[in-house]
Amino acid sequence: MVDSKKSTGTGGRARKAAADPMENLTAILSQKVVGQPAATSVIVPYIQMFQAGLAPEGRPVGIFLLLGPTGTGKTKTVEALAEVLHGSAKNLLKIDCGEFQMEHEVAKLIGAPPGYLGHRETQPMLSQQKLTAVTSDSSSLSLVLFDEIEKAAPSLTRLLLGVLDKGVLRLGDNSSVNFEKSLVFLTSNLGAREMMKEINPNFGFSAGAPGVRGDITSKLENIALAAVRKKFSPEFVNRIDCVITYQPLTAESLSAIVDHQILDLQNHVNTRLASRCFQIEVPFETRQWLIEKGTSSEYGARELNRTIHRHLTQPLATMVATGQVDAGARVRVEIASDRASLALRPTRTGEAEAPSHPTVLLVDDNRDLLHFLERLMAEAGWRLLTAESASEARRIVADQKPNAALLDYMLPDGNGVELGVQLRRQAPKMQVIMMTGSVLPPEDEAVCEEHDFPVLRKPFLATEVMNQIRSRLAAVFSAKG
Ligand SMILES: Nc1ncnc2c1ncn2[C@@H]1O[C@H](COP(=O)(O)OP(=O)(O)O)[C@@H](O)[C@H]1O
Ligand SMILES: [Mg+2]
Repeated sequence: MVDSKKSTGTGGRARKAAADPMENLTAILSQKVVGQPAATSVIVPYIQMFQAGLAPEGRPVGIFLLLGPTGTGKTKTVEALAEVLHGSAKNLLKIDCGEFQMEHEVAKLIGAPPGYLGHRETQPMLSQQKLTAVTSDSSSLSLVLFDEIEKAAPSLTRLLLGVLDKGVLRLGDNSSVNFEKSLVFLTSNLGAREMMKEINPNFGFSAGAPGVRGDITSKLENIALAAVRKKFSPEFVNRIDCVITYQPLTAESLSAIVDHQILDLQNHVNTRLASRCFQIEVPFETRQWLIEKGTSSEYGARELNRTIHRHLTQPLATMVATGQVDAGARVRVEIASDRASLALRPTRTGEAEAPSHPTVLLVDDNRDLLHFLERLMAEAGWRLLTAESASEARRIVADQKPNAALLDYMLPDGNGVELGVQLRRQAPKMQVIMMTGSVLPPEDEAVCEEHDFPVLRKPFLATEVMNQIRSRLAAVFSAKG
């Protein structure tokens, strides 16, 4: 529940946040890094401690080990922090440990000792100057990221130990770098392979199953920690302030990430083209297509940027350059008939806008439930249609074609299962989900099974319903694609 609110981050939340800069930090961070609330809640207090002047001396302000599967937002977290603290994602000192796999390469980091051939030419990558260069007027806290530390040569790990322990790094020329005003982040995908085995059967779209998620969280944490303990010495592990295990991204998080990236693209178009800008209209189905193409259990959301660039940004650029888009126009992005690419076309005047989020029909005469779900779905950008009877439902489906229908079993003018079968005939692509307060009679149970209508037993959590709908829509979509 909390999770879902964080990741959809509405404008209301951001407005409220503006009053208090620290609240702001948490809110903005959790908008930028979707679906990883633990990361934000653990890191922010260390920044507050620094800003209050209470950070301990003789060590970095905070040392965090970020673990978890690829493409779930580990590096993105540090970039987002840099953006919030210093105004640019580039304001961080990033050491790609993959570049220091060999012992002799570590000299690039700290510079060669005097007397060594070429020591004057070796500018150490880590120096006090470089640390200062990534701070800003708004904060003197530098962010240092050792990315993918499992790849580093053992001597780099030994150097790191000194940094973690005393907050000091001695360079080749015997000068030293002080990390007392730094947050140090170590990222690693140690244990990721075993984690994948754990999550693969239900990666992503499975978040609907109650209980499973909490279970998975602690399992992944244990796997990650065991892998870290095996690779690094106890002294090393003991100096880390917090270990944060990143979760595989749920369908909900992926949706939010796609929405953000499309919004970023729209903002970019608006600023770059100013008065010649146009509106990009990306319907719900297209967003699902982008998720399908750009994300995987193996790489998380890592390829999503590239997918959007290739299938959306580049074709748009071509259209603009060749004068196919008028200022103020609307460009609709649909899935091409071969389903392997996207088709962009300016919309005709008067053409209705395609909804960018699912439309769900809820048929129940319980008004409290209707209102509650309505609010929740609106927060996620969904559109909720409601009906209190079977006859009203049939009318709505006939002219609005929702993506999914959530039907109560007991309706004033009939039975939900029968209604489901009728609605399916009316709209074959629509997903039907049944809700009931009791056990269904066996014959209705059989009908649900035959038509693949999942049955939700009341009471249930509202997020459960939304996840159920998401997973149904995603599954249908990937089967088609
Ligand atoms: N939790 C997330 N929130 C927002 N974007 C994300 C998230 N996870 C991954 N991404 C997207 O995927 C890209 C790769 O994520 P990254 O943080 O580099 O993954 P890793 O966990 O392997 O370090 C990011 O640049 C961002 O576009
Ligand atoms: Mg990374």
